[in-house]
Amino acid sequence: MSLDFELQRFPKEIALKDSSKLLLRPLQTHDEKTFYEFFQSVPEAERMFIKHRVSDPKIIKDWCRNIDLGRNLPLLAVKNGQIAGTATLHQQLGGWKRHVGRVSVLVLPPFRGRGLARALVKEISAIARGVGLERVEAEFIGEQEAAIKMFAMLGFSNLLRLPDYVKDMQAITHDYVLMSLNLKTDEEYAGVG
Ligand SMILES: CC(C)(COP(=O)(O)OP(=O)(O)OC[C@H]1O[C@@H](n2cnc3c(N)ncnc32)[C@H](O)[C@@H]1OP(=O)(O)O)[C@@H](O)C(=O)NCCC(=O)NCCS
Repeated sequence: MSLDFELQRFPKEIALKDSSKLLLRPLQTHDEKTFYEFFQSVPEAERMFIKHRVSDPKIIKDWCRNIDLGRNLPLLAVKNGQIAGTATLHQQLGGWKRHVGRVSVLVLPPFRGRGLARALVKEISAIARGVGLERVEAEFIGEQEAAIKMFAMLGFSNLLRLPDYVKDMQAITHDYVLMSLNLKTDEEYAGVG
């Protein structure tokens, strides 16, 4: 039930469908430059859907200098010093949703379609289970259809869709989609862990 225990598994090498190998490890302070470059490599249209203004270097600097893995755990997939993808486990550490973690995932286009997001979400879900969380949820903008499909394949179920409920970084309104995985009962179906 301890995060330190879960983190002992990293760094961890994984192989994708095309046999290419990447290293999974949590974000570290020295990643500031490469993490910023990672977000700049995300297509502009998709960056609009990210909740934070990641084109602002100050945001990434703040993340890298104030790492609190118990609250936000960004797991990076690194290839030749470049970040190919990341998934983050967000925890509330109190309140009504203290048993629910939130997962977000992002993979750069050149690394897509090889099972990287699947591997990252599985890894984050295993950590979530290991630290005693009972559920993980994921939030989407209605247009993120590939991601919604992928999370469904991993056993996440659709909890709700609220029409025109959220606004992207350009203040354009979109549907809000919430999905969730029950870590106590859904693990066999999802093959997570
Ligand atoms: C969605 C995203 C994370 C998928 O990354 P990826 O590494 O290409 O995904 P994977 O290769 O692990 O694919 C896993 C499954 O998802 C499905 N999938 C992935 N991309 C898909 C697409 N564009 N269209 C349809 N299905 C897709 C596939 O069916 C795949 O299953 P398979 O292994 O049986 O073929 C990536 O496209 C991305 O970063 N998108 C932008 C950010 C985003 O939407 N994040 C989600 C918000 S939390």
